[in-house]
Amino acid sequence: MKKSLIAIVLALVPSVVFAAGGAAMPLDHIELDRTNTASLQRGMATFVNRCMGCHSAQYQRYERSATDIGIPANLVEENLIFGDKKIGEQMTIAMPAADAKVFFGNPPPDLTLETRLRGADWVYTYLRSFYKDSSRPWGVNNAVFKDVGMPNVLEDLQGKVSLRCSHEELLHKGTAGDIDPLTGLQKAGCLSVDKGTGALDPAEFDKVVYDLVNYMAYVAEPSRAESESLGTKVLIFLFLFFFVAFALKKEYWKDVH
Ligand code: HEC
Repeated sequence: MKKSLIAIVLALVPSVVFAAGGAAMPLDHIELDRTNTASLQRGMATFVNRCMGCHSAQYQRYERSATDIGIPANLVEENLIFGDKKIGEQMTIAMPAADAKVFFGNPPPDLTLETRLRGADWVYTYLRSFYKDSSRPWGVNNAVFKDVGMPNVLEDLQGKVSLRCSHEELLHKGTAGDIDPLTGLQKAGCLSVDKGTGALDPAEFDKVVYDLVNYMAYVAEPSRAESESLGTKVLIFLFLFFFVAFALKKEYWKDVH
């Protein structure tokens, strides 16, 4: 009896799971803000222009994004939908997966649920952690996705990035994406941008990626902002209803005692 009790207790204790594959690099954290529609709009523009050449977001319709994040339908149709697609259609792409596999080794996966799969911090770190590696087909490697098949599609904005330490040190230190609050420049770390190779400075670039990941996180859970605001309203209602119910209870029981 005692033994089986212990077994039950042990079964209920959540076990700690260690990810396989040895040390993982510390990720840079971002605070998502689903209520910041300006950020989400900028993120959608970046996603459509920079990512949808290769990746789809097939479980999302353009119209849903437009309505939720407040972009007028005609602006979306004129500026953010390419080809002869309609706003009511899903955000799919024209590149067949089989061809993509030949081009890149691995086909670019659909990104609708990516931030739920990997986490927003991972995606945010990944997009900022490409570095030059001449042994790779696209000339770049990635600190959190070793030997990645994706080119650094944001390189014109970020600039070329050099790896200034060993891979082991990189895993230990992280991207050192820290930005000096005084100068706005990236502190010297394992990954550093070659001067003058990117259109944006590191702080501006991080903001572009922030908006992009904020949008991707919205796409992964489009109803979340709505549920959160509804949740608050329900709690307020329950709080007020408590007084009504309490008064009613008093009224009913008044004559019993
Ligand atoms: C030129 C084509 C191309 C473009 C453009 C592109 N990607 Fe990729 N991406 C790929 C390929 C190919 C892979 C698969 C890499 C692999 O598995 O080795 C990939 C993988 C990824 C992954 C990792 C998926 C996983 O395995 O979990 C993320 C996240 C991602 N891309 C985000 C983006 C974002 C965001 C953009 C836009 C800024 C973008 N990609 C633009 C080709 C592209």
